[in-house]
Amino acid sequence: MAKTFTKFVCQQCGAESPQWFGRCPNCQKWNTLVEMKEKVERVKDRRKRDLSIDRQVEPVSLSQIKNLELKRISAQIEELDRVLGGGIVPGSVTLLAGDPGIGKSTLLLQTASRIAKKTKGTIFYVSGEESPQQIKIRAKRLEIKEKNLLFLNETNVDQITERIDQFDNQIVLIIIDSIQTLWTEDLTGTAGSMGQVRESARRLLDLAKANQLPVFFVGHVTKEGAIAGPMVLAHMVDTVLFLEGERYQALRILRSIKNRFGPTDEIGVFTMTNKGMKEVRNPSQLFLAERRTKTPGSIVTVLMEGTRPLLVEIQALTVPTQLAMPRRVTSGVDWKRLQLLIAVLTRRAGLPLGNFDVYLNVAGGIKVSEPGTDLAICLAIASAFADKLVKPKTVAIGEVGLLGELRTIGQLDKRLKEARRLGFNQSVTPEQFKTVGQAIKKALETK
Ligand code: TYD
Ligand code: MG
Repeated sequence: MAKTFTKFVCQQCGAESPQWFGRCPNCQKWNTLVEMKEKVERVKDRRKRDLSIDRQVEPVSLSQIKNLELKRISAQIEELDRVLGGGIVPGSVTLLAGDPGIGKSTLLLQTASRIAKKTKGTIFYVSGEESPQQIKIRAKRLEIKEKNLLFLNETNVDQITERIDQFDNQIVLIIIDSIQTLWTEDLTGTAGSMGQVRESARRLLDLAKANQLPVFFVGHVTKEGAIAGPMVLAHMVDTVLFLEGERYQALRILRSIKNRFGPTDEIGVFTMTNKGMKEVRNPSQLFLAERRTKTPGSIVTVLMEGTRPLLVEIQALTVPTQLAMPRRVTSGVDWKRLQLLIAVLTRRAGLPLGNFDVYLNVAGGIKVSEPGTDLAICLAIASAFADKLVKPKTVAIGEVGLLGELRTIGQLDKRLKEARRLGFNQSVTPEQFKTVGQAIKKALETK
């Protein structure tokens, strides 16, 4: 027998407790516990049911399990297919998270329309976020006309699943925009609260698995507040994708953070145009398009994003400081990493940066985190500080240690090959130089 229990759920981290606390025992945030009535099966009842004979599962060895060939559906957008690991897996549930206004609805509407074009089946776009008129405006802008792409303006999850059942086996894809608008009458919390989001997601998840239907959830990443962030769903869904970018720049990067059916290090690159998201086939060219080669402080490095090498420009600026504590400002690179590299440059390469503000930027708005960019960061700073250009057509790749030593990084050949393809036939790497000091001496032009 299912019984209704009261429990308290933290709206910040999702931790549950049978008792109210002023401060969440898990995440230590104040005033985040909200009372929720949920139907819960008591463990005792559940155990009894699970042990009934038809629920028993025999243990098997791995060799006995059949290798199921995953039949994937192409999203008809190559960059999205790549991030998913080769297409959409039937029965899989994918969460597309990102800041509001970044382009989640646009990307999924485009995907829906392109798949609709390729199939006779029905695609369900459930939107609780926007009215049909608003979606119509977007669809017009994106020139979407497919008749088998159906919109449903509904937020009650039970109504939604009922509708989906009616269409039964005609449906090929379901898009829920967004999961934070859904609710069920069985819970008392408001739409968007932790309990409602989780329960709605669970019901759709069950439906997806039972009918082998692929489902996409849109989830807004929210600032700290009362509304549940979509990341509480991360452990429930098969795949978590993140769409990121700066609001006032066109570049959008799609990453997978979790993927039960594919890699997690691939990225998809798009630009937001006035006709929707456009795939970028050659991102390096985009990143280097506006590069100025005649000003000191600029160098190119090669990142590996999954299987794909990417050329990006690192820029640095140093100016005499007006403050007791010089400024270190970064965009696209971890601030602590910059601090560390400045310390290494000061002590191991003899650059007296203690009285200089250092600004660092990765051009184009991409974020870099791999240590292979260390050397390029050091060279950009050294170039700006010495006011000397880096030699033309040069890329720098390598990690820098605390002793000023250079360390090799993976897939150097692949990176250098891509650099050569784009006309960068000179390189500064740990294969040629032992220390960052030597690399600086050789890489900068003499005046
Ligand atoms: P949207 O997909 O609604 O974002 P999200 O669903 O992540 O909240 O995109 C919103 C922004 O994108 C909005 O500011 C308008 C802009 N946009 C374009 O630049 N081009 C387009 O073709 C579309 C449809 C939107
Ligand atoms: Mg939206």
